[in-house]
Amino acid sequence: MTATLIDGKAFAARVRDEVAKGVAALKRDHGITPGLAVVLVGEDPASQVYVRNKGKQTIEAGMASFEHKLADTTPEADLLALVEKLNGDPAVHGILVQLPLPDHVDESKVLAAIDPAKDVDGFHVLNVGLLGTGQKAMVPCTPLGCLMMLRDHLGSLSGKNAVVVGRSNIVGKPMAQLLLGDSCTVTIAHSRTQDLAEVCRRADILVAAVGRPQMIPGDWVKPGATVIDVGINRIPAPEKGEGKTRLVGDVDFDSAREVAGAITPVPGGVGPMTIACLLANTLTACCRANGLAEPEGLTA
Ligand code: GUN
Repeated sequence: MTATLIDGKAFAARVRDEVAKGVAALKRDHGITPGLAVVLVGEDPASQVYVRNKGKQTIEAGMASFEHKLADTTPEADLLALVEKLNGDPAVHGILVQLPLPDHVDESKVLAAIDPAKDVDGFHVLNVGLLGTGQKAMVPCTPLGCLMMLRDHLGSLSGKNAVVVGRSNIVGKPMAQLLLGDSCTVTIAHSRTQDLAEVCRRADILVAAVGRPQMIPGDWVKPGATVIDVGINRIPAPEKGEGKTRLVGDVDFDSAREVAGAITPVPGGVGPMTIACLLANTLTACCRANGLAEPEGLTA
């Protein structure tokens, strides 16, 4: 059997369309334009690319984009003052501080300073706690995107055995909470898990989020399982020429696709969903801030 490919690129385009429709309706019916502020400290090239893409897609969705680029020597106090200013700005409905931050800045202090209602990353401890207790929260973008793809492909997730490999605060833990919220039986596996292969083989839904290239081979996948590969790893690709590289996931795609029922490719799977869900979260935050109905299908 060859697995169905879950096309994240096409799905993300659909989500962005839905967001753009929601934004247009907000403008037309209420005169409100959702606004997203992104703060970048320093000049990390990967972060610069992310921030540029976020700004471009925010504008394409009809929202206002506010970019704040600060030198990597910016004192923590100045960054906290900027966050305070954005918290109080009525044109800003979502705030994202790009991670990683320079070493002299306390990341948890900065994340804690963001108004939880504007925390479109879902990293504030209040949102973490709301998600963990099954209440309405702002949900981290990457796991939200994975959940949307799973619901779209499988319909109800109720009663399924879900295994999340990886326990990060950004993906693994919130992913597990979301799957639990959809009534899966959830296991979180990690680097100390005993007999990881056996644990993975029990999964109807297997989410890989460890950041280790191709570490999950096809014979760890249950026949017919739905595999969501969150990993984006760059590896040497001598077949493409000397010094060339290519992107691979945490799952060994070629062997896993022979066993799985459905699988997300890398690239073109989970990746494009992250920014699409950031736009969705910004629209959601804007609707909540104005006491309006939330967009359907774009929240957990
Ligand atoms: N750096 C890489 N991915 C992310 C993300 O999703 N949010 C933030 N704030 N920083 C990141």
